Amino acid sequence: MAGSTFGERLKMTTFGESHGKAVGVIVEGVTPGVELDEAYIQVQMDRRRPGQSSVTTPRKEYDKISILSGTFEGRTTGTPLFIMLSNTDMRPSAYDDIQSMYRPGHADFTYNKKYGFRDYRGSGRASGRETAARVAAGAVARKLLERRGVSVLAYTTEIGGIRCETFDADAIEKNMVRACDPIAAEQMIEKIEKLADEGNSCGGIVECRISGVAAGLGEPVFDKLDAELAKAILSIGAIKGIEFGAGFQAASMLGNEHNDQMDASGFKTNHAGGILGGISTGSDIVFRVVVKPTSSISVPQKTIDEDGNERDIVTIGRHDPSICPRVVPVIEAMACMVIEDHYKRQAALLDE
Ligand SMILES: Cc1cc2nc3c(=O)[nH]c(=O)nc-3n(C[C@H](O)[C@H](O)[C@H](O)COP(=O)(O)O)c2cc1C
Repeated sequence: MAGSTFGERLKMTTFGESHGKAVGVIVEGVTPGVELDEAYIQVQMDRRRPGQSSVTTPRKEYDKISILSGTFEGRTTGTPLFIMLSNTDMRPSAYDDIQSMYRPGHADFTYNKKYGFRDYRGSGRASGRETAARVAAGAVARKLLERRGVSVLAYTTEIGGIRCETFDADAIEKNMVRACDPIAAEQMIEKIEKLADEGNSCGGIVECRISGVAAGLGEPVFDKLDAELAKAILSIGAIKGIEFGAGFQAASMLGNEHNDQMDASGFKTNHAGGILGGISTGSDIVFRVVVKPTSSISVPQKTIDEDGNERDIVTIGRHDPSICPRVVPVIEAMACMVIEDHYKRQAALLDE
C-alpha cells in the first residue's frame, strides 16, 4: 500500500526524511548465523555518503550506521535487522525562500498533489538521502550473496556526453565519478566542476554487472527477474530508463545477430543480458540505466507557487551537480536485494 516496503522473502522497509532526525531500514528474512557487523555495512555507506568529493553535494554527513537489532555476537539472528543513521548536517533555512514554490524537475508539485502538503526541507522523502537506507539493506543482501559466489559491480560509463572508451575495473573506485575509464573520468570531473560553477547539472549512464548468478532465478510471469530489477532500479530517484544486454540496440539487430547461440560450453554471446523468459541464464546479468541531470540548479527558471502565481526560481542549498557518482552504490544495493530475494524464492519453490 504505502510503497516503502520492497522484496518478498528478503524484505526492506525504509523510513526517514532528508531533514528529519534520522533515516533507516528494517530488513526481514535475513538468513540466521551469518557474520555481519557495522563495519561491513559502513564500507558501502561511505561510498554513497554526501560530501565525499568535490563533484558531490557539499552536505557533510558521515552516515555512521548503528545496528539496533537482529544480530548477536557478530552474527545475524534471523530476526528483523534494524539499521539506523542520524541526520546531522541539516540546513532547512536554505529552503525558506522557495518553500511555497515548485522546483522544476523535482517532486514538489506531485507531492503536494498527492498529500495536500509536503516537507519542503530538502524534499523530505523525495530526497536522495532516502537511498542511504537502501544501501544499508543492500549491504546485508551483498553479504548473503557473497556466500553464493555472486558479485555486483556498477560503474559510470557516461556523464554529460563524455563516454568511457575502455573498461578498467581497478580504476572505478579510484576516481571521483566511479567511471570505468580513468581518462574519461578526468574529463567528466572537469565537466561537472564547470557546470557546478555555472549553477547547472548534467546526467549520465551507469552500467551494472551481476556475476556468478545461477541459472533458474526469476518468477514468471509478473515477477520476471528483469521486471523485478527494472522496478527496483526505477524506484531510485532520478533514474529515467533501463536496458538489459543489447537493450535498445536490439531494435536494429537481426535475429541471427541478437540470438545468443549455444555450444557445449554454454552461451557464445550475451545479448540477452543474462535473462531469458524472465529467468536467469547463468551468464552475467548486465543492465544500463539513464540518470537524469539533477533538477535543483541555481540557473534561474520559471515556475509557479502553491497558489498558482507565476514565479522565478533559483534553487540554492547543497546539491549533487551529477547524481552518477553517488547513485552507483545505490544501484548495486537494489540489485543485491533483488538477486538475494530471488535465491530465497527459488529455494522456497524447490522446498529446500
Ligand atoms: C544518490 C542521489 C542523490 C541525489 N541528489 C540530488 C540533489 O542533490 N538534488 C536534487 O535535486 N535531486 C537529487 N537527487 C534526485 C532526486 O531524489 C529526484 O530527482 C527526485 O526525487 C524526483 O524524482 P524523479 O527525478 O525520479 O522524478 C538525488 C538522487 C539520488 C539517488
